[in-house]
Amino acid sequence: MKNIDSTSHLSGKSIFIDDMPEIQGTLFASVVTSPIAHGKLLSIDFSEAETLPGILRIFTYRDIPGENQIGGIIPDEPLFAEEELHFVGQPVALIVGKSDFICQQAKQLVTFDMDILHPVTTATEAFERNQFISPPRTFKMGDAESAWKDCAHVFEGTAESGGQEHLYLETQGAYAIPMEKGKLKIYASTQGPTAIQKQTARVLGIPMNQIEVDVNRLGGGFGGKEDQATPWAVMVALAAHHLKKPVKMILSRHDDMYMTGKRHPYTTHFKIGLSKENKILAYEANYLQNAGAAADLSPAITERTLFHCTNSYFIPNVKATVHSCKTNLPPNTAFRGFGAPQGMFAIECAIHLASKELNVSVEEIQKINLLKEGDVFPYGQKAQNVMLDNSWHLADKQWNIAKLQEDINQYNAQHSLKKKGFSIFPITFGVSFTNTVMNHARALVHIYQDGSVGISTGAVEMGQSVNTKMMQVAAGVFSIDMHKINIESTNTTRVANTSPSAASSTADLNGKAVQMACNALLSRLKKVAAKLVSGNEEALDIKNEEVFFNKKPTGITWKELVKTAFLQRISLSESSHYATPEIHFDKSAEKGHPFAYHVYGLVLTTVLTDCLRGTYEIEDVKIVHDFGKSMNQEIDLGQVEGALMQGIGWMTMEEIAYDKNGILLSNALSTYKVPDLYSAPKSVEIIPLENESDNLAILKSKAVGEPPFNYGIGAYFAIQQAIKAFNPDYSMAFNAPMTPEKVLMGLYEQT
Ligand code: MTE
Ligand code: HPA
Ligand code: MOS
Repeated sequence: MKNIDSTSHLSGKSIFIDDMPEIQGTLFASVVTSPIAHGKLLSIDFSEAETLPGILRIFTYRDIPGENQIGGIIPDEPLFAEEELHFVGQPVALIVGKSDFICQQAKQLVTFDMDILHPVTTATEAFERNQFISPPRTFKMGDAESAWKDCAHVFEGTAESGGQEHLYLETQGAYAIPMEKGKLKIYASTQGPTAIQKQTARVLGIPMNQIEVDVNRLGGGFGGKEDQATPWAVMVALAAHHLKKPVKMILSRHDDMYMTGKRHPYTTHFKIGLSKENKILAYEANYLQNAGAAADLSPAITERTLFHCTNSYFIPNVKATVHSCKTNLPPNTAFRGFGAPQGMFAIECAIHLASKELNVSVEEIQKINLLKEGDVFPYGQKAQNVMLDNSWHLADKQWNIAKLQEDINQYNAQHSLKKKGFSIFPITFGVSFTNTVMNHARALVHIYQDGSVGISTGAVEMGQSVNTKMMQVAAGVFSIDMHKINIESTNTTRVANTSPSAASSTADLNGKAVQMACNALLSRLKKVAAKLVSGNEEALDIKNEEVFFNKKPTGITWKELVKTAFLQRISLSESSHYATPEIHFDKSAEKGHPFAYHVYGLVLTTVLTDCLRGTYEIEDVKIVHDFGKSMNQEIDLGQVEGALMQGIGWMTMEEIAYDKNGILLSNALSTYKVPDLYSAPKSVEIIPLENESDNLAILKSKAVGEPPFNYGIGAYFAIQQAIKAFNPDYSMAFNAPMTPEKVLMGLYEQT
């Protein structure tokens, strides 16, 4: 089944927030933000802006009837700044007027009186100044401190990885409509409708049941709308609440880029110890996470870094500590991988450093340290159904890894100004919200009297095709045509208290809930059918919209059965709740079983570097991926390809630049380069490692949203190998992204 939105997307008929017909009298809004990264706000002058024709009202924190606070994990983020300014782009006020244009004009007329304070923009400086978001966290296994003396080799180094702009096609936006009796309806482009409902209630000082949040779909989220879709929605809700008029706001691309947080840059100091046989005996990592000016989701992201600190390797002695450092940048936030890619990059840097220093191949170190069945992760969970050795074997069988490397060596021997590089990179990704309490979902399924079906869940469609998967689950249980099923918008009045659509778990959690509700309805319908054929329920099946008794067609159709049930006053609606079993985690011990299961895989990357120019092409990417038993191969392949490309972008060309005053320099698509068709790999092959091991995935089809993002990391190391082939003096500093400028410097670096 192809993505059910593909036709409407391609024909431009899919509806996003800005496509919704506007209610007469709708007002527009624009956010006034801090022009400085750190300082005291003495006063603001709105006098000119206020008098511009068409401007109706300017809201500040003084207009907030409830709490001026939207922090989800830690209450450290005001909706509007009061006396202190913490980052460029921090919301200070909301201008509401008759058109978006006039609001933008008014914004230019606002002037500030401020005392400028020193801005901190790097995690290292924040660390030195003891500026933290939350206390550090440490995961420990074995005894790293005493293991060093048993190591034949110990190496220390630093790995830097940069931020990343989400660049969802649809920018942040929301539309709030006042309803009767003070209620509000909010349409928003968010991964977390419940977060908006909750924070709006907090800011307005009204109960959650007065607020209905509705999400039709997103033009992409990628984590950037898990938490950071909230402020804009709360702001328009505040304005609608006061003015009793619908208020809409869609951020321009430029505003979206400088106001919102990004992937967290990390500076990681690592130490790795190996035996004579290249077994990794000990690993220590100290991650400095650049969190920006408020917590947002950073505490959860630090956690996922620790969960992935050893990636696909078993290391008996581990000590990993993460510091969430408070800087004067927009609060950094969730982004596909959620801190895991940063952790996985660092351990791979450590292995590449050891390989270089010991003059043994990376492959040799990787292979003997791969995680095996029953190995324990540093957080106490036992690795099960591990697919790393077999991924490697399948890749080797399919593509002959030694031959690939030989061909590259031969090419390099024959070419002096062009060099190829190759890398192998294994991935292991834990599926579940790391915060156990978030792993639950609900579904509400109605069968209408004509046999058509309506499904509501907490799942938000953001391009990952979760709606298609929900439809497949229902169509499968009922055995009816997908055209009989409608997936409704995600709405907090129909399905309440939802977790955000995130952690790659949306299809699992909501799919299981849909499955439960549909099964309950099916068994109710079978009871009705049993009476109709005067037979036993167990001998009944519904297949292709027809009732079968003892495997023989009865001539009773789905539609007739539903109608009969309705006439017998049988409920055709069901609401169900699913909570992932088995998972638990004890934060005081930092041990437990946090993940429903893991997703595994392996990527082989070949790059070609132009050694005069420093430019490169990703020639070829070959992936063995653990889909479990994919319920939709086309969609899942699309997820792998998209995630791979996004990962390559992060590792190679996407460079976020703030100046030392905390002003975003890469603030447009002319200065922030994302991969286009020309930077895509010339060839991508993805082969599934088909398996049906018992796991908690929906229909045994494993989560696929985030894990393949990490395949992009392979590109970084392949480029480094190409540089090394040209320049034996290359120091191999680990500093992503590997932009062409850095490649050029590396090619001609001298020690
Ligand atoms: N794919 C598309 N097309 N658009 C997106 O915004 N978000 C990614 C991934 N794939 C995203 C996407 C992220 S960050 C996550 S967590 C998962 O999808 C969320 O959806 P899932 O839980 O259904 O996999
Ligand atoms: N992943 C993604 N988003 C999240 C998580 C997680 O583990 N926890 C809270 N939000
Ligand atoms: Mo995805 S970063 O969990 O929204």
